[in-house]
Amino acid sequence: MADGRGQGLGGLAFALAWVRNPRRVGAIAPASKALAQAIAGEVARVGPELLLEVGAGTGAVTQALAALGPPPDRFFVIERDPGLVRHLRERFPSAEVQHACATRLDLLPLPPAASLMLVSSLPLMSMPRDEGRRCVKAMLALLERVPNARLLQYTYAARHVRPFDQLPPGWRWRRVKTVWANLPPATVWSLEPAAHFTQGIH
Ligand SMILES: C[S@@+](CC[C@H](N)C(=O)[O-])C[C@H]1O[C@@H](n2cnc3c(N)ncnc32)[C@H](O)[C@@H]1O
Repeated sequence: MADGRGQGLGGLAFALAWVRNPRRVGAIAPASKALAQAIAGEVARVGPELLLEVGAGTGAVTQALAALGPPPDRFFVIERDPGLVRHLRERFPSAEVQHACATRLDLLPLPPAASLMLVSSLPLMSMPRDEGRRCVKAMLALLERVPNARLLQYTYAARHVRPFDQLPPGWRWRRVKTVWANLPPATVWSLEPAAHFTQGIH
Protein backbone atom coordinates (compact mmCIF):
# COMPACT_ATOMS: atom_id res chain seq x y z
CA MET A 1 0.00 0.00 0.00
CA ALA A 2 2.64 2.53 -1.04
CA ASP A 3 0.03 5.21 -1.81
CA GLY A 4 -1.79 8.16 -0.28
CA ARG A 5 -3.99 5.91 1.87
CA GLY A 6 -0.88 4.31 3.37
CA GLN A 7 0.44 7.77 4.21
CA GLY A 8 -2.90 8.83 5.75
CA LEU A 9 -3.07 5.75 7.94
CA GLY A 10 0.59 6.38 8.70
CA GLY A 11 -0.27 9.80 10.12
CA LEU A 12 -2.81 8.21 12.45
CA ALA A 13 -0.43 5.41 13.47
CA PHE A 14 2.26 8.05 14.11
CA ALA A 15 -0.07 10.14 16.29
CA LEU A 16 -1.12 7.09 18.33
CA ALA A 17 2.52 6.02 18.80
CA TRP A 18 3.40 9.57 19.86
CA VAL A 19 0.61 9.56 22.46
CA ARG A 20 1.87 6.19 23.77
CA ASN A 21 5.50 7.29 24.02
CA PRO A 22 6.55 10.78 22.86
CA ARG A 23 10.24 10.46 23.85
CA ARG A 24 10.66 7.27 21.87
CA VAL A 25 8.90 8.63 18.80
CA GLY A 26 11.02 11.75 19.13
CA ALA A 27 9.53 13.73 16.22
CA ILE A 28 6.49 15.88 15.65
CA ALA A 29 5.76 14.48 12.19
CA PRO A 30 6.83 11.58 9.97
CA ALA A 31 9.87 12.17 7.75
CA SER A 32 9.14 14.36 4.70
CA LYS A 33 9.50 13.09 1.14
CA ALA A 34 12.60 15.28 0.79
CA LEU A 35 14.27 13.67 3.80
CA ALA A 36 13.29 10.15 2.70
CA GLN A 37 14.69 10.88 -0.79
CA ALA A 38 17.97 12.21 0.63
CA ILE A 39 18.40 8.96 2.59
CA ALA A 40 17.38 6.71 -0.30
CA GLY A 41 19.68 8.64 -2.65
CA GLU A 42 22.67 7.92 -0.44
CA VAL A 43 21.68 4.23 -0.17
CA ALA A 44 21.40 4.03 -3.97
CA ARG A 45 24.81 5.70 -4.38
CA VAL A 46 26.48 3.12 -2.13
CA GLY A 47 24.45 0.10 -3.34
CA PRO A 48 24.63 -2.18 -0.27
CA GLU A 49 23.79 -5.87 -0.53
CA LEU A 50 21.81 -5.83 2.71
CA LEU A 51 19.49 -3.02 3.83
CA LEU A 52 18.33 -2.73 7.43
CA GLU A 53 16.10 0.09 8.64
CA VAL A 54 15.61 0.64 12.34
CA GLY A 55 12.92 2.80 13.99
CA ALA A 56 10.89 2.77 10.77
CA GLY A 57 7.84 4.45 12.35
CA THR A 58 5.11 4.99 9.79
CA GLY A 59 7.29 3.94 6.85
CA ALA A 60 7.98 7.33 5.26
CA VAL A 61 11.65 6.39 4.80
CA THR A 62 10.79 2.72 4.22
CA GLN A 63 8.74 3.70 1.19
CA ALA A 64 11.67 5.50 -0.43
CA LEU A 65 13.95 2.54 0.37
CA ALA A 66 11.41 0.03 -0.98
CA ALA A 67 11.28 2.02 -4.23
CA LEU A 68 14.96 1.13 -4.75
CA GLY A 69 13.74 -2.46 -5.18
CA PRO A 70 15.81 -4.37 -2.61
CA PRO A 71 15.17 -8.14 -2.74
CA PRO A 72 12.69 -9.09 0.04
CA ASP A 73 15.19 -11.37 1.79
CA ARG A 74 17.73 -8.49 1.84
CA PHE A 75 15.46 -5.77 3.24
CA PHE A 76 14.86 -5.81 7.01
CA VAL A 77 12.72 -3.30 8.88
CA ILE A 78 12.79 -3.04 12.69
CA GLU A 79 10.27 -1.18 14.85
CA ARG A 80 9.50 -1.35 18.54
CA ASP A 81 5.96 0.04 18.69
CA PRO A 82 3.46 -2.80 18.05
CA GLY A 83 0.85 -0.54 16.36
CA LEU A 84 3.44 0.76 13.93
CA VAL A 85 4.69 -2.78 13.27
CA ARG A 86 1.16 -3.82 12.20
CA HIS A 87 0.97 -0.76 9.96
CA LEU A 88 4.40 -1.44 8.39
CA ARG A 89 3.55 -5.10 7.73
CA GLU A 90 0.37 -4.10 5.89
CA ARG A 91 2.08 -1.36 3.94
CA PHE A 92 5.24 -3.28 2.99
CA PRO A 93 4.35 -6.97 2.60
CA SER A 94 7.55 -7.63 0.68
CA ALA A 95 9.88 -6.38 3.44
CA GLU A 96 10.93 -8.45 6.46
CA VAL A 97 9.28 -6.32 9.18
CA GLN A 98 10.31 -7.37 12.68
CA HIS A 99 8.91 -6.29 16.02
CA ALA A 100 12.15 -5.82 17.93
CA CYS A 101 14.12 -3.36 20.02
CA ALA A 102 17.20 -1.71 18.58
CA THR A 103 19.09 -2.44 21.79
CA ARG A 104 19.23 -6.05 20.55
CA LEU A 105 20.15 -5.26 16.97
CA ASP A 106 23.54 -6.95 17.21
CA LEU A 107 21.78 -10.27 17.96
CA LEU A 108 19.55 -10.13 14.89
CA PRO A 109 20.11 -13.13 12.62
CA LEU A 110 21.00 -11.77 9.18
CA PRO A 111 21.96 -13.57 5.97
CA PRO A 112 25.63 -13.36 5.07
CA ALA A 113 26.34 -10.33 2.89
CA ALA A 114 29.30 -8.47 1.44
CA SER A 115 27.97 -5.08 2.55
CA LEU A 116 25.34 -3.54 4.79
CA MET A 117 23.60 -0.18 5.06
CA LEU A 118 21.93 0.42 8.42
CA VAL A 119 19.41 3.26 8.18
CA SER A 120 18.35 4.64 11.54
CA SER A 121 15.47 6.97 12.36
CA LEU A 122 15.98 6.31 16.07
CA PRO A 123 15.50 9.49 18.12
CA LEU A 124 18.82 9.01 19.92
CA MET A 125 18.78 12.50 21.43
CA SER A 126 15.29 12.33 22.95
CA MET A 127 14.88 8.69 23.97
CA PRO A 128 15.73 7.66 27.56
CA ARG A 129 19.51 8.09 27.91
CA ASP A 130 20.28 4.51 28.90
CA GLU A 131 18.22 3.12 26.02
CA GLY A 132 20.00 5.48 23.63
CA ARG A 133 23.40 4.26 24.87
CA ARG A 134 22.34 0.63 24.42
CA CYS A 135 20.99 1.30 20.90
CA VAL A 136 24.29 2.93 19.88
CA LYS A 137 26.29 0.05 21.36
CA ALA A 138 24.20 -2.52 19.46
CA MET A 139 24.40 -0.56 16.19
CA LEU A 140 28.20 -0.25 16.47
CA ALA A 141 28.53 -3.97 17.27
CA LEU A 142 26.51 -4.77 14.15
CA LEU A 143 28.60 -2.43 11.98
CA GLU A 144 31.76 -4.14 13.18
CA ARG A 145 30.30 -7.61 12.56
CA VAL A 146 29.37 -7.18 8.89
CA PRO A 147 31.95 -6.29 6.23
CA ASN A 148 31.61 -2.95 4.43
CA ALA A 149 28.92 -1.70 6.78
CA ARG A 150 27.76 1.91 7.16
CA LEU A 151 25.16 3.70 9.26
CA LEU A 152 22.90 6.48 8.02
CA GLN A 153 21.38 8.47 10.89
CA TYR A 154 19.47 11.73 10.76
CA THR A 155 19.10 14.27 13.54
CA TYR A 156 17.13 17.44 14.18
CA ALA A 157 20.04 19.07 16.02
CA ALA A 158 22.17 21.93 14.64
CA ARG A 159 23.84 20.75 11.45
CA HIS A 160 27.35 20.55 12.91
CA VAL A 161 26.26 18.28 15.80
CA ARG A 162 27.09 14.64 15.13
CA PRO A 163 24.51 11.99 16.13
CA PHE A 164 26.81 10.53 18.81
CA ASP A 165 30.47 10.52 19.86
CA GLN A 166 32.82 7.86 21.16
CA LEU A 167 33.25 5.97 17.94
CA PRO A 168 35.36 2.85 17.70
CA PRO A 169 38.82 3.52 16.26
CA GLY A 170 38.79 3.89 12.50
CA TRP A 171 35.26 5.27 12.10
CA ARG A 172 34.25 8.81 11.10
CA TRP A 173 31.06 10.80 10.57
CA ARG A 174 30.41 12.43 7.19
CA ARG A 175 27.58 14.92 6.77
CA VAL A 176 25.54 13.82 3.76
CA LYS A 177 22.95 16.58 3.54
CA THR A 178 20.80 19.00 5.53
CA VAL A 179 17.17 18.81 4.46
CA TRP A 180 15.47 22.13 5.16
CA ALA A 181 12.14 20.93 3.72
CA ASN A 182 11.42 18.78 6.74
CA LEU A 183 9.63 19.54 10.00
CA PRO A 184 11.95 20.25 11.76
CA PRO A 185 14.92 20.53 9.33
CA ALA A 186 17.05 17.40 9.53
CA THR A 187 20.67 16.52 8.82
CA VAL A 188 21.60 13.12 7.42
CA TRP A 189 24.93 11.70 8.62
CA SER A 190 26.88 8.68 7.41
CA LEU A 191 29.14 6.73 9.77
CA GLU A 192 31.87 5.13 7.67
CA PRO A 193 35.28 3.54 8.00
CA ALA A 194 37.87 6.33 8.01
CA ALA A 195 39.72 4.52 5.19
CA HIS A 196 37.07 5.84 2.78
CA PHE A 197 38.28 9.37 3.54
CA THR A 198 42.01 8.65 3.27
CA GLN A 199 41.51 6.76 0.00
CA GLY A 200 39.90 9.88 -1.39
CA ILE A 201 36.52 8.30 -2.10
CA HIS A 202 34.73 11.31 -0.54
C1 LIG B 1 11.37 9.60 14.52
S1 LIG B 1 10.28 8.22 14.66
C2 LIG B 1 10.28 7.45 13.09
C3 LIG B 1 10.22 8.31 11.93
C4 LIG B 1 10.03 7.55 10.64
N1 LIG B 1 11.14 7.77 9.76
C5 LIG B 1 8.74 8.06 10.01
O1 LIG B 1 8.83 8.90 9.15
O2 LIG B 1 7.67 7.66 10.45
C6 LIG B 1 11.28 7.08 15.57
C7 LIG B 1 10.81 5.66 15.60
O3 LIG B 1 11.74 4.86 16.34
C8 LIG B 1 11.01 3.91 17.09
N2 LIG B 1 11.86 3.45 18.20
C9 LIG B 1 12.19 4.17 19.32
N3 LIG B 1 12.97 3.43 20.12
C10 LIG B 1 13.16 2.24 19.50
C11 LIG B 1 13.90 1.07 19.82
N4 LIG B 1 14.61 0.98 20.95
N5 LIG B 1 13.88 0.03 18.95
C12 LIG B 1 13.18 0.11 17.77
N6 LIG B 1 12.45 1.20 17.42
C13 LIG B 1 12.44 2.26 18.27
C14 LIG B 1 9.78 4.65 17.53
O4 LIG B 1 8.73 3.76 17.89
C15 LIG B 1 9.46 5.49 16.30
O5 LIG B 1 8.60 4.82 15.44
